[in-house]
Amino acid sequence: MAHIHDLAAEISNYGANRLKTPTPIRFPRTPTFASMNKPCRFEGDVQDLEVTGTLPADLNGTFFRVQPDHRFPPLFEDDIHFNGDGAVSAIRIAGGRAHLRQRYVRTDRFRAEDAARRSLFGRYRNPWTDNESVKGVIRTASNTNVVFWRGVLLAMKEDGPPFAMDPVTLETLGRYDFEGQILSPTFTAHPKVDPRTGEMVCFAYEAGGDGADCSVDVVVWTVDADGKKIEECWYKAPFAGMIHDCGISENWVVLALTPIKMDLLRMKRGGNKFAWDPNEDQWYGVVPRRGAKSEDIIWFRADNAFHGHVAGCYELPSGEIVFDLTVADGNVFFFFPPDDNITPPDGVAKRNKLSSPTTRWVFNPKAKKSAIRTTEAGDADVWVADERVKPALTWLTNGEFSRIDERYNTKPYRHFWQAVVDPTRPYDFAKCGPPAGGLFNCLGHYTWSEDNYHTGEATTKNDTYGLGEEKGKFGLEDVYFSGPTMTFQEPTFIPREGGVEGEGYLIALLNHLDQLRNDVVIFDAQNLNKGPVAVIHLPLKLKLGLHGNWVDHRDIEAWQERRAETGDVGPVQVAKEPLPWQKKVDQRNHGTGL
Ligand SMILES: [Fe+2]
Repeated sequence: MAHIHDLAAEISNYGANRLKTPTPIRFPRTPTFASMNKPCRFEGDVQDLEVTGTLPADLNGTFFRVQPDHRFPPLFEDDIHFNGDGAVSAIRIAGGRAHLRQRYVRTDRFRAEDAARRSLFGRYRNPWTDNESVKGVIRTASNTNVVFWRGVLLAMKEDGPPFAMDPVTLETLGRYDFEGQILSPTFTAHPKVDPRTGEMVCFAYEAGGDGADCSVDVVVWTVDADGKKIEECWYKAPFAGMIHDCGISENWVVLALTPIKMDLLRMKRGGNKFAWDPNEDQWYGVVPRRGAKSEDIIWFRADNAFHGHVAGCYELPSGEIVFDLTVADGNVFFFFPPDDNITPPDGVAKRNKLSSPTTRWVFNPKAKKSAIRTTEAGDADVWVADERVKPALTWLTNGEFSRIDERYNTKPYRHFWQAVVDPTRPYDFAKCGPPAGGLFNCLGHYTWSEDNYHTGEATTKNDTYGLGEEKGKFGLEDVYFSGPTMTFQEPTFIPREGGVEGEGYLIALLNHLDQLRNDVVIFDAQNLNKGPVAVIHLPLKLKLGLHGNWVDHRDIEAWQERRAETGDVGPVQVAKEPLPWQKKVDQRNHGTGL
């Protein structure tokens, strides 16, 4: 007997690249599903992993990370990595031993497709390509970040709300709406926690409607350490683009708006959610953290470029804001080419040639600004700084996935780490083929020189370490090369208890591109060049993940007590009602007799 999902039509019949037969299970033979990115689809536990070297005795916690990993073959042959279902890996380390647990996030999307035993959702963030039966179902795949917050693990993707998981069992508890306080259709995958106050500062873009309408509405919230939403302010962006990461200082939030643009008409025709616009500026929105009003935003414009991830953000004695992130000189998302019907996709080879330095911006939040109107924002005022901005300095690191000692969020910081691309090192193409996800063949540890640390007067000097005329370096570099058959995924810093900034370990996934297998490597964070102190060997291949975080087990245990039935906080409350946009879809469906 046919299942209802087989009978329901796709919303539109976009023939190009659509896979005709969903069964038998067979994934596309495309680079998206090849090499390290062949589907993993593993759920289970592996106890007592093999280890080379010695796991540090003081490590007692879990390295959580998440990967996009299609549960079923996609509806479209040319689907992209970012459209895969979120699968969370937990590497539990304690007593000198390590264990692996991996589970999919049971999102609404996952559950609908699991019931149908096939894909029902179409292109990345384009509901006009979905099966009719899932209209009104939250589309997010929760595949971008996993953040520990008040006793639960939040699996996040910026196109939808977070889903809460148990940090020990990885059981999905349900959609998390901050106990009914946050009901927007979208939510960032990069919230920031202020270590001084315990507040979570978070935001959403495309937040005004159903999360798929290309709205220019941006919202910024603060949730305090007790879980109470204490700030909320809505803003207008100059166009509907991507705001992937943010920075927070003591008093400000900086939002990086990247010139890849949504287009509703293109989506309705079955096309991509985003298109790179090589003629658009990069923009930075600066808003107050406390007591903000919509007109308080100030947007700074700079020459076209592509934002990577944020390292540090803090204020100078002058009141100006330092904001550090990698910025690439072209379209990193080659699978979202310009919307001119002429420019073909660049492909990963060109993406691997992009330069991605660490770029420091210094913003004056009191700069003169004017209200302007943009085509996309319609009749809404967009507040734009009168003067364009340029980088204060550019450290030629050519890396991505910057991380810092997060105890220094909002504060002047000295150390950051990245996955680094070094094309001058040997690479065994014959054994490995093209490096899936990018040639991140090194890990780098960078230490800002004193002059570039926090004095506020000499943010562009580079002579403290005697670097003198060596251009493009603003401190010490400590780099470890993986070897010609390996690449790294995002590193995460683990602070040593009682240690100063940067004292601790660095943990990351290592991809064996020739063996199609992963290790977990742990370094002394201050001495990457000495090589890993321990290597945990996984007996399988995961996938290229996006982000992860380390959680000390004492924090998990303390929250388990608080979250017990008899605890002072009680069990986590997941969302009980559909989101407002879903209720509207439901009303419309009833109105038309669907
Ligand atoms: Fe990210």
